[in-house]
Amino acid sequence: MGLLRNFSFMIFGKGNFSRQAFAKLAAKDEWKQTNDTVMTRDLKGKVALVTGANSGIGLEVCKELAKKGASLYMVCRDKGRGQAAVDRVRTDSGNEDVHLQLCDVSSLASVSALVREWEAAGRPLHLLVNNAGVLLHEYTPSPDGFETSFATHCLGALALTAGLQPLLARGVAAGGAGAGAAGSSRVVWVSSGGMYTQPLCSTDPRLTNKDLERKYDGMAAYSRDKRRQVALAEALARKWTSSGVGVYSMHPGWATTEGVQKSIPGFYNLFKDAFRDAAEGADTILYLALQDSSKLERGAFYLDRTPQPKHLTLAGTSYPPEEADRLLESVMGLVGDRVPPVRTQGAAGTGAETAGAGAEAAGAGSS
Ligand SMILES: NC(=O)c1ccc[n+]([C@@H]2O[C@H](COP(=O)([O-])OP(=O)(O)OC[C@H]3O[C@@H](n4cnc5c(N)ncnc54)[C@H](OP(=O)(O)O)[C@@H]3O)[C@@H](O)[C@H]2O)c1
Repeated sequence: MGLLRNFSFMIFGKGNFSRQAFAKLAAKDEWKQTNDTVMTRDLKGKVALVTGANSGIGLEVCKELAKKGASLYMVCRDKGRGQAAVDRVRTDSGNEDVHLQLCDVSSLASVSALVREWEAAGRPLHLLVNNAGVLLHEYTPSPDGFETSFATHCLGALALTAGLQPLLARGVAAGGAGAGAAGSSRVVWVSSGGMYTQPLCSTDPRLTNKDLERKYDGMAAYSRDKRRQVALAEALARKWTSSGVGVYSMHPGWATTEGVQKSIPGFYNLFKDAFRDAAEGADTILYLALQDSSKLERGAFYLDRTPQPKHLTLAGTSYPPEEADRLLESVMGLVGDRVPPVRTQGAAGTGAETAGAGAEAAGAGSS
């Protein structure tokens, strides 16, 4: 089954994830119209937080969000690399409202510190992009003792999302288009087409990749976590419907970035000609930030501005919706009370009462 899945993935990938596939779509009239009507919208007065912001796709997203006037918080784990990226985005966009937010997403203490800082600042949030990602080749424990791929893509990202949910719900504003428009604060999970090669692993030891400790397969860990991100987005989208926070997952396509060149050089060199640039990889994240929420499908997995199937034919990876809900519960169970969600002032419509995964599953009530 594994071989069949990998083979289908390569065929599907060549046809859909490549630079050529992007160029073909970008030449269509409908795409050009969207460029004029949606992609030109501004984000003045909107607050955005992007993880993994100092390189690759995250950096490209930040450049565009800053050009559109967003108040931007770039989440980076290294102060030097982070500040250099912030300076670059400020210079590039002319927007001074761009800030470095130091945080190691794989560490629950670090995520908790970020959430507490946002709670104290009391600012709303209109867009959260869970972009930070790693593909490792050795079993590496996170600061909390979990395998790092799981800790980065699932545990930390979910703790961050659930922790900030009341601020996202507060960011649901009246009028306008794009993130923060009526009923439309957004969370975008940057997943990967690699998820097509893995079924949903939602029970331990596969849940936390602990089963890979003795014989580590970084690609399998990464692909499992990317599958889990799609399922988490789906479950959160269901759970948060009434709060007005839209949740989506997406695949950037095969995009040339430092991460890809370093972590999978063999694959990159073999398919170099099919790789798009990082800005093309960032395109769908920006689309999900800017399009009217009524025109987006909550919980869907997007590639090139369009919802995609979540499973390849005959891949045997399908799961019922309840399994995604169980995954959400299990991962929030591991977060426990270590990242309590932001407590709002009890104002009506702040979303504290709809914090869902954050308040309920983390066992830390919001007032
Ligand atoms: N490029 C592609 O073809 C492709 C395809 C599918 C999916 N994706 C996804 O796209 C996202 C961006 O990847 P990329 O290709 O742009 O790679 P990249 O250039 O390596 O960017 C990854 C970013 O994540 C940051 N990061 C990693 N672990 C972190 C942590 N614990 N805390 C905070 N930041 C952390 C990295 O920071 P450091 O500089 O400190 O390491 C870096 O800024 C990833 O989620 C990846 O899985 C990419």
